[in-house]
Amino acid sequence: MFGRVKSLDAILATAEKKSLHRSLGAFQLTMLGIGAVIGTGIFVLTAEAAQKAGPGMMISFIIAGFVCAVAALCYAEMAAMVPVSGSAYTYSYAVMGELIAWMVGWALILEYAVAAGAVSVGWSGYVVGLIENAVGIDIPDMLVRGPYDGGVINLPAMLIAGLVTWLLVIGTRESASVNAVLVAIKVAALTLFIILAVPVMKMENFEPFSPLGFGGIGAAAASIFFAYVGFDAVSTAAEETKNPQRNMPIGLIGSLGICTIFYLLVAAGVIGSVGAQPVMDAAGAGLEPGSRELAAQCAAIADQAVVCSKEALAWTLREIGWPQIGNLIGLAAGLALPSVILMMMFGQTRIFFVMSRDGLLPEAFSKIHPRYNTPYFITIITGIGVALFAAFFPVGLLANISNSGTLFAFAAVSIAVLVIRRSDPSRHRPFRTPAIWLTAPLSIAGCLYLFYKLDVKSQILFAIWAGVGLVVYFAYSRSRSHVGRGLVEVHEGDEGIPPQPVAPLPGDIDIND
Ligand code: ALA
Repeated sequence: MFGRVKSLDAILATAEKKSLHRSLGAFQLTMLGIGAVIGTGIFVLTAEAAQKAGPGMMISFIIAGFVCAVAALCYAEMAAMVPVSGSAYTYSYAVMGELIAWMVGWALILEYAVAAGAVSVGWSGYVVGLIENAVGIDIPDMLVRGPYDGGVINLPAMLIAGLVTWLLVIGTRESASVNAVLVAIKVAALTLFIILAVPVMKMENFEPFSPLGFGGIGAAAASIFFAYVGFDAVSTAAEETKNPQRNMPIGLIGSLGICTIFYLLVAAGVIGSVGAQPVMDAAGAGLEPGSRELAAQCAAIADQAVVCSKEALAWTLREIGWPQIGNLIGLAAGLALPSVILMMMFGQTRIFFVMSRDGLLPEAFSKIHPRYNTPYFITIITGIGVALFAAFFPVGLLANISNSGTLFAFAAVSIAVLVIRRSDPSRHRPFRTPAIWLTAPLSIAGCLYLFYKLDVKSQILFAIWAGVGLVVYFAYSRSRSHVGRGLVEVHEGDEGIPPQPVAPLPGDIDIND
């Protein structure tokens, strides 16, 4: 089962052909991480977390952040040692063989494509709120919410997914300066929120602290985990990092740490200023976020609770007497979230591309557009998938499904890093995970715990998805695999694929072929 391992040396030969100038320092890495991380999670899912845990969501943020931190340390070692395209899929191929790699790649489809759908829905919530509140046009819910959320179709979410697909097809990349501006917008929006909401906190709003018990706190952690996803962007820049042994952990832990502090302050601001108690059913049980029952209950109270809001932070500011600033936060989210969608969809096309190049997916997936030089075919397929998810599913469900795939990939990387420490201890490691025999098992246990705390629907969907993956592998991919057929070719690392959407310092990265 583990027989088909892709030789690490063959993979590394790829990277050696293309040596990147080591230009990134700790600061740029941290910016890269913050740019990829802050998005729908904090702007939108705060409401879902509150519905699951009430004020106890503060602890949920800490739990999810901790699991990400230990996983990030494992990623950093693999990324520094195997600095080539494909992320968790490639690491698994080299360490645990083709079947596991295939399953990881298959799970990454959830991480990236479904997450892009979730962020599209989050974007829609803010933009619709902005149009309704700032321009005064009332858009019928039917057109801006999916069928599980009291509507029929989420057209704005489809629209943004389509727009980002088009940008990717024509080869749009985010430059360092655009990333810096977007990070500044996001950080400014969250800072403004904290400045206005924290001083009007009332301690009584923190009572009862955990109305749905520790179970609720764990469930909220499993959802809010989404808010931290994206830091893997930092680990993929391993090859371009100066002194990775020092800067990689600073970049990973630094961006996670900064996001965690912002998230905790924002959560405290929401809870303390407007209260964050869950909406219950008649029997006193918390209603499931993204369910028709919750939508109906919210409609009955005219959405007068933060847990009912699709734009939690803007809603909170309007409630505490800052309607214009609330709109400004909406504008900030509207401007900044598309870049998170872009990064996620880009990551997806890259994974598909590498899997197709390995023979596990049809060759057509790696077709390159003659003029734009982008993998347009797979980008369009991805875009259609993302637009459909975004049109019909609620943000929380999409985020949870995405989390299931991400948790699987994180756990696989944490296992891989342990396996290779044993199987290949002398290989050069520019960065070594500190206390690996503690860190990696904690990461694996944390991923298992959060997976277990996901809602049953997401767990079942993950199991079905994994089952379909196995069928596709044995029916199609296994017999076509290049490794299986003995065709171990060495590709240029990113041959034909456009570089990362975020080039932290354009001009600084020197590709010497
Ligand atoms: N962490 C990213 C977000 O919250 C995916 O949007």
